[in-house]
Amino acid sequence: MTDKELVLRAVTAREKAYAPYSGFCVGAALLTESGKVYTGCNIENASLGATICAERVAMTKAVSDGERKFAKIAIVGGKEGEDLVFCSPCGICRQFMAEFTNADFPVILGTPNDFRTYTLNELLLLAFTPKDLSVE
Ligand code: THU
Repeated sequence: MTDKELVLRAVTAREKAYAPYSGFCVGAALLTESGKVYTGCNIENASLGATICAERVAMTKAVSDGERKFAKIAIVGGKEGEDLVFCSPCGICRQFMAEFTNADFPVILGTPNDFRTYTLNELLLLAFTPKDLSVE
């Protein structure tokens, strides 16, 4: 799966976003090493702190399906009804990715016509990971 195809899957996933409070809709598409794609959208809540981001929806779907090895993720976002903007993952989602990936995990950000790949290490320097608890 090319980076562009994964970005397009994130765009489609974003269509399901439930964002009545912020109006900001996010989509994520996560490719597993086994070749499957798990997608997610943000799901907001009247109790705002109960909101879950698109990236964590995609990752929890995958992990709960038995998948723990990931090849790359694409993330897109923007205000409902407007053009996509550059959408950077929040700190909690970066930490969530660090649990199941490595420092060189590719995170693709942008829009279908203008995207760039970052490593997770670029987005989350000196991450606290399972290694710090001697679990891996
Ligand atoms: N959001 C995500 O889904 N992913 C991110 O990494 C950034 C923020 C969502 C959460 C909330 O529903 C909306 O964007 C505005 O913060």
